[in-house]
Amino acid sequence: MAVIRIKSSSGSYEVHCANGILARASALVSRLRDATGIFIVSSPTIWKHCGRAASSAFRGLAHRQAILFDDAETEKRLAIVEELCRALIHLGADRRAVIVAVGGGVVGDVVGFAAASYLRGVRLVHIPTTLVAQIDSSIGGKTGVNLPEGKNLIGAFYPPQMVITDPDLLNTLPHREFRSGLYEVVKTGIIADVELFAFLERHMLSCLRRDPETLASVIVRCIRVKANVIGRDERESSLRQILNFGHTFGHALETFTGYRRFLHGEAVGWGMCAATLLALATGRLAARDAARILRSILSVGHLPALPKIPAAKLRALLAGDKKSRGGRIRWVLPRRIGSIVVGVEVPWPLVSRVVGELPGIVREAQNQTRVATARHPDARVRNRADYSAIQ
Ligand code: GLY
Repeated sequence: MAVIRIKSSSGSYEVHCANGILARASALVSRLRDATGIFIVSSPTIWKHCGRAASSAFRGLAHRQAILFDDAETEKRLAIVEELCRALIHLGADRRAVIVAVGGGVVGDVVGFAAASYLRGVRLVHIPTTLVAQIDSSIGGKTGVNLPEGKNLIGAFYPPQMVITDPDLLNTLPHREFRSGLYEVVKTGIIADVELFAFLERHMLSCLRRDPETLASVIVRCIRVKANVIGRDERESSLRQILNFGHTFGHALETFTGYRRFLHGEAVGWGMCAATLLALATGRLAARDAARILRSILSVGHLPALPKIPAAKLRALLAGDKKSRGGRIRWVLPRRIGSIVVGVEVPWPLVSRVVGELPGIVREAQNQTRVATARHPDARVRNRADYSAIQ
């Protein structure tokens, strides 16, 4: 089992990561002293897949029936936080309650914000059940909800007491959602981990096949990268912005399409392609690295088609990004694989040109990637990847 300590201004906490660790959730959560009740919050879909395992994991602890809410991105709104808090009151949750969020990014963000607000803050444990949540959103204390005007515009930094990460929970994840998480895995390699990036170039097929050992080691690797970033800049004053690579354009896409067309990772996939081309166009990134980055993003799979966004609308959406200052868009761009620069302002005509060229360039790169993937030696490896290379 890997135990990764995350430094936080409100005390450090641990991520416990291992295949099958859900069965030990009760023992882990009972380390939290004087809990008057364990209140599990999840979604109907997730509960269908792992409710039985989660319920039996908490057998013996004073816990109530799970509170379930729809975890569609469109349901990530303030009204749901109110509903959750009211449900907690009706179930008798007091200040010594422990809220356990079992689910993906939406569940973690919404339940985290409810835990931060309920009685001015009760203890929170994350049990992430999607790849995005396991490697990213369950770590670092970001909680919140969307507004029609933009993503995650209301929220709080509210670190959990503990994260319990079981890669086996990913076995039942729909393939599209699993792939969506892989874009964020690739992001981790691009922003901070050359070895992980190179590993993914060789073993993407093993990841796509969800080889348990490959996946567990890749997840631990990503958690360590995030732990390192959060430990140095929890409040996103500078370094943490590197985690937003691909998110400036990605969030604009999600908002423009009403959170319906793209899964978060897919929008980030497009966003990373856009940021890579911007870095190339502004002379910050070498063509060879840009090509490797695009290939790696596209090796995850097919991205849903880009909508046509009128230029003025796109500009307004991008300017609404949380990293903007005085309406000026500040990009997060790669300067080489494993290294990122934040706060870059790019002239609008160039942004507009790159976004216009994006679909054609990505289509071409996608065709090349398809050929390269079919020829890749790993395509013949059925069972195992050389995961030791990145441990
Ligand atoms: N997902 C980006 C962050 O946690 O900062």
